[in-house]
Amino acid sequence: MNKILKTELTKILNIDYPIIQAPMFLVSNTKMAIEAANSGITGCIPALNYRSLNELEASIMEFKAQSNGPIGINLIVNKFNDKKNEQLKVCIKSGVDYIITSLGNPKSTIQACKPRGIKVFCDVTNLEYARKVESLGADAIIAVNNKAGGHLGDLSPEKLIPELVNKCNIPVISAGGVSNGKDMVKMLSLGACGVSIGTPFIATHEADISNDYKQAIVDYTANDIVVTDRISGSKCTIINTPYVKKLNLKANRFERFLFSNKYLKKYFKAFRWFQGTKMFKKSAKNVTYKTVWCAGPSLDGVHSIRHVSEVVSDFLNPIMIEGDN
Ligand SMILES: Cc1cc2nc3c(=O)[nH]c(=O)nc-3n(C[C@H](O)[C@H](O)[C@H](O)COP(=O)(O)O)c2cc1C
Repeated sequence: MNKILKTELTKILNIDYPIIQAPMFLVSNTKMAIEAANSGITGCIPALNYRSLNELEASIMEFKAQSNGPIGINLIVNKFNDKKNEQLKVCIKSGVDYIITSLGNPKSTIQACKPRGIKVFCDVTNLEYARKVESLGADAIIAVNNKAGGHLGDLSPEKLIPELVNKCNIPVISAGGVSNGKDMVKMLSLGACGVSIGTPFIATHEADISNDYKQAIVDYTANDIVVTDRISGSKCTIINTPYVKKLNLKANRFERFLFSNKYLKKYFKAFRWFQGTKMFKKSAKNVTYKTVWCAGPSLDGVHSIRHVSEVVSDFLNPIMIEGDN
């Protein structure tokens, strides 16, 4: 693969192709990020995937020892992540290239990273929040659409990308629903300067999860993806496994009351967050009949378990063919 596709994202991160291997809780790891970098793209790992700050630092150092490419870390910046300030310090100390913030206010992350030349990309789902992170000094917006795996947005890529591109002055990266190279070209033609792709990378040899989870990405289809707010407290996509079919996916009346009550909602959300995290962990790493696997509809493009480099090649196919003409 020797063609290079230049966009604002490739320029910011000095990569060959405008793809971020998206941060995925429990799934993304150093090996995947190294393979991503070797394939001309970049990988981002959630800080929450490490049990300790030492492990986080060791992972960044291992990456740097084995690759000259950029490395990104994802910080959950909401109040449930009580380690976020320490995680940020480790990222700064070990010289990560960029940070993706999600689920909260990125102000202090941006303030700490900007003077040190670390780029900050912020997950957003609408124009209001995009304008907010732009005013705080974000380097790019990650526009999370209604086809994304994990915590999804409400708007289609066709609506969200042009709106943000037209009304914001920083680059827009699209997240969600890219299951093949054609989808990627479509997001770029809508105005995105790159794509952040998660689900298709779950079914890779390098991912640190059970084989059952990887095989589920191959076997299930977009019709099997359901959305629930009962697991982590925010809307999230999961595979409709036999176990999930027995669960009630919608919050009941009492839960809706707790979610909306001014005084109680923070405790209930925190409870759900920790409970959901535990549930996802059990399912992703072990064989259990209580399978709650997170994935998005872009699993439709996955037909076998492959190496990260093979998944990247597939996404680049249409670009390579077009470039040959
Ligand atoms: C299994 C899984 C775990 C995820 N975990 C995180 C996470 O920890 N932090 C985050 O910011 N986004 C997370 N996401 C969202 C991704 O970063 C990305 O926005 C999404 O995967 C894009 O949609 P796609 O799956 O259709 O490519 C996760 C997505 C999946 C599928």
